[in-house]
Amino acid sequence: MKELEERIRKDGKVKPGGVLKVDSFLNHQIDPQLLYAMATELKRLYAGVPINKILTVEASGIAIASMVGYVFSCPLVFAKKSKTINISDDVWSADVVSFTHGGTNRVMVSKEYLGAGDCVLIVDDFLATGAALVGLKAICEQAGATVAGAGIAIEKVFQGGGNRLRAEGMRVESLAKIRSMTDNGLEFEN
Ligand code: G4P
Repeated sequence: MKELEERIRKDGKVKPGGVLKVDSFLNHQIDPQLLYAMATELKRLYAGVPINKILTVEASGIAIASMVGYVFSCPLVFAKKSKTINISDDVWSADVVSFTHGGTNRVMVSKEYLGAGDCVLIVDDFLATGAALVGLKAICEQAGATVAGAGIAIEKVFQGGGNRLRAEGMRVESLAKIRSMTDNGLEFEN
């Protein structure tokens, strides 16, 4: 998506360790017009798919996912993170290892908000190693829900998660795909 790529070039900041800061429009301060355009593009890509629920994980996926829920006219459910091992029986849960932040979070969704019969679009701001997507997909499988696919704002292709999941048969649509990222600049993949 050209508009997102141009914004990343203009306002994104490359940090050591392959981390891209997009705090001025996606991760801290939010640009609602841009997020609306992104959600509309995901709606175009998933036209005809009977999606009735959007699923993300807290925290920074919520802004884009909320806009996607608005455009798809369906609820957004976000998985909550917990470091506790005391998980009640009425949640679906999965462990997600964070490459960027380090450590493991158990993420969980109340059984009340996800179940068999749901057709889910998983949405997130970043796709790097794919750990979050794998965890959210596992939660959908526990719930007996169908995963229509994923809608990602920024995929860091060089971290491999997206292509691994595609090879496993999952539909993954990313609005900006970064092939490489160095202090000298970014290269996008079509
Ligand atoms: P994943 O996103 O594919 O699961 O891979 P990874 O384990 O690397 O991601 C860990 C966290 O870091 C995720 O947020 C992810 O969205 C975020 N992240 C990954 N790469 C980047 C990057 O280049 N820039 C920024 N700004 N974030 C990145 P999270 O653990 O869900 O935490 P939260 O920040 O949403 O609360």
